[in-house]
Amino acid sequence: MQRERDILLTAHELSAKFYHYLLNNTEAGRPAKEYLRSRGLTDKLIEQFMIGYAPNNWDVLFKFLTKREYDPALMERGGLLSPKSDGTGYVDRFRDRVMFPLWNREGKVIAFAGRIMGDGQPKYLNSPETVLFNKSKNLYHFHQARPDIRKTGQLVLFEGYMDVIKAWSAGVKNGVATMGTALTEEHVEIIRRNADEVVICYDGDNAGQAAILKTIPLLEKARVKQAVALLPKGMDPDEYITAKGTDAFVREVISQPVSAMKFRLIYSRKHHTMVEEEGRKNYVMEAVSMIAELESTIEREFYLKELAREFEVSLDTLKQDCHQIRMQLQ
Ligand code: UTP
Ligand code: MN
Ligand code: MN
Ligand code: MN
Ligand code: MN
Repeated sequence: MQRERDILLTAHELSAKFYHYLLNNTEAGRPAKEYLRSRGLTDKLIEQFMIGYAPNNWDVLFKFLTKREYDPALMERGGLLSPKSDGTGYVDRFRDRVMFPLWNREGKVIAFAGRIMGDGQPKYLNSPETVLFNKSKNLYHFHQARPDIRKTGQLVLFEGYMDVIKAWSAGVKNGVATMGTALTEEHVEIIRRNADEVVICYDGDNAGQAAILKTIPLLEKARVKQAVALLPKGMDPDEYITAKGTDAFVREVISQPVSAMKFRLIYSRKHHTMVEEEGRKNYVMEAVSMIAELESTIEREFYLKELAREFEVSLDTLKQDCHQIRMQLQ
């Protein structure tokens, strides 16, 4: 078993170098290079993240690996090759995709994500779960982000590869990504052991915002401090940086996160119609019941005051309601 792991590790390392070489040095890699440029990735970032290209070909990697005496059956179990549909052999798993190596905590390549250039499904083809790769235990780019996470005590949590890479180019070097899966307890455990505080920076679309709501209680349960960086509606961090630049991203997004409670309030507010009295009333009641769950009296008072000011309700009334809800909670 240990031996299989070691062989698969070297196969991944070699494959990453091979894909990276094909991107940089071949005619076939040129459109992929153009694609990456069009997305704002410099040569330096392509180097740093070892980005590559898997050509539109059934067997380049197959030949590359078998020539080096890697057993194709093992390579299939490692997610680098796929069985032919008629069962007579193997083909490359990744074809005509921009390749992002995924690393483990020790900085060893353990899997790949291949992005289609343009539209099509799936957008990212990832390695399957293997003896090396377990999505729910892996955070993209953690091995490189770790020193900065340790130094600053802070970790920035993104949804995707491009977000981490673009943020890195903005000087945000403590960023990692969950790679499309919801944050798991295993992820939280890695975070808890390495960071004092998390800034959640998910996409500004509905899916991203809903994912934040699910992430908050997980971090709360582990008693990890957290804050939420907000993006304009429909933009993800990568798109924000392309549109507004790296400085704006640091200044306006990363440096100005809101509290988890504030995020919940903003979220709930958006889902009530504020032009109608009914909607406003419902929102205030929902807000009070959220605030009631806060342990700290000072924090409760702080948010209730804000609410009282904004909706012209007396603070006393809100406090009374809040108190009643708290009595029911106990
Ligand atoms: P997104 O849909 O937000 O993609 O998914 P993205 O990161 O913005 O991708 P670009 O900018 O269009 O290239 C967030 C993350 O979910 C995972 C990937 O890790 C992606 O970065 N994902 C998404 C997949 O694994 N497969 C998919 O087909 C889509
Ligand atoms: Mn290189
Ligand atoms: Mn998304
Ligand atoms: Mn996105
Ligand atoms: Mn994106």
